[in-house]
Amino acid sequence: MSAKEELQRLVDLLSDYECENLLGTVRKVAVGERFWETDISILYNEQVKTRSTGISPSSASTIPTIPATEEGLFLPIPIVKAYKSVPRIELPLPGYPDISLTKTILRRRSRREYNGKAISLHQLSTLLQLACGTTGFLPGYDYDRLPLRTFPSAGGLQSPEVYLSVQAVSGVPSGLYHYHLVDHALECLSPGDHSLTLSTLALGQPYLDAAAVVILISGYYERVRWKYGERAYRYMCMDAGFLAENLYLAAEALELGACAIAGFVDDAVERFLGIDGQDEMALLLVSVGVTDEVTPLAAPATPA
Ligand SMILES: Cc1cc2nc3c(=O)[nH]c(=O)nc-3n(C[C@H](O)[C@H](O)[C@H](O)COP(=O)(O)O)c2cc1C
Repeated sequence: MSAKEELQRLVDLLSDYECENLLGTVRKVAVGERFWETDISILYNEQVKTRSTGISPSSASTIPTIPATEEGLFLPIPIVKAYKSVPRIELPLPGYPDISLTKTILRRRSRREYNGKAISLHQLSTLLQLACGTTGFLPGYDYDRLPLRTFPSAGGLQSPEVYLSVQAVSGVPSGLYHYHLVDHALECLSPGDHSLTLSTLALGQPYLDAAAVVILISGYYERVRWKYGERAYRYMCMDAGFLAENLYLAAEALELGACAIAGFVDDAVERFLGIDGQDEMALLLVSVGVTDEVTPLAAPATPA
């Protein structure tokens, strides 16, 4: 059957409505309106969609072969990122606020008005444990003890990494730190007050410099890409979202204010963190600070 005959056969299968839509698309393409040239995110999504037809542009070619050993699945990029030979601060045991989840969820807000006061090391420890701490271990990916966290992640691969610009935490020198998820410790990457740098990196958003701490969440793309191919980019963004919501709720429970910040200069933040922007990329900042907005909190909002 010639291509023309094949096309005719397909068109005959379509309803008048479907023909109208198809014709509309063909006309747009004919005058040069190609959606993939103006919106790379639609192109990406079309590329990674799993389709009911079973045919996806990305199917076989972009999903890498999953490395397996005799014992099982091998994880090429370790989940626990650690910085050797840098000063560390062991975080104290967290203490959990006595507040119901319902109340915490109902009163969560983005809070940006910080009064510049310091939070305690104990509050920081609790915030990190609730938002992204380790809560268990399971054998997996050829590891005997694969850590599990307070947030879910695609394949249990825990794509987010957590960095902190400590700006006002009692007993902790200001500086850029990395959170060691198993040791529940801070690894100092660059001492000093980075609050003004961060405000600048966040396109001048002014409230960052009065925050007690700014948490910088990256996505370790390579940690998920080997398993899910290009679709992993989606999963990585979702993982970061789950972690960020935990941060919001933990801050709220501690009567602190938190605000997500996605407006920032990516390459500058990545240079600041010392990550390459490809294997590991900056995804989201979350400022946390003491705020007078948190009137020990008013009655929770009731749904309209
Ligand atoms: C992905 C994401 C990015 C955001 N980026 C910013 C930001 O760059 N600056 C900011 O002030 N707020 C930012 N926000 C906070 C939103 O503005 C806020 O969630 C929204 O206005 C709803 O208010 P609420 O969180 O108090 O309910 C962001 C929120 C999300 C989820």
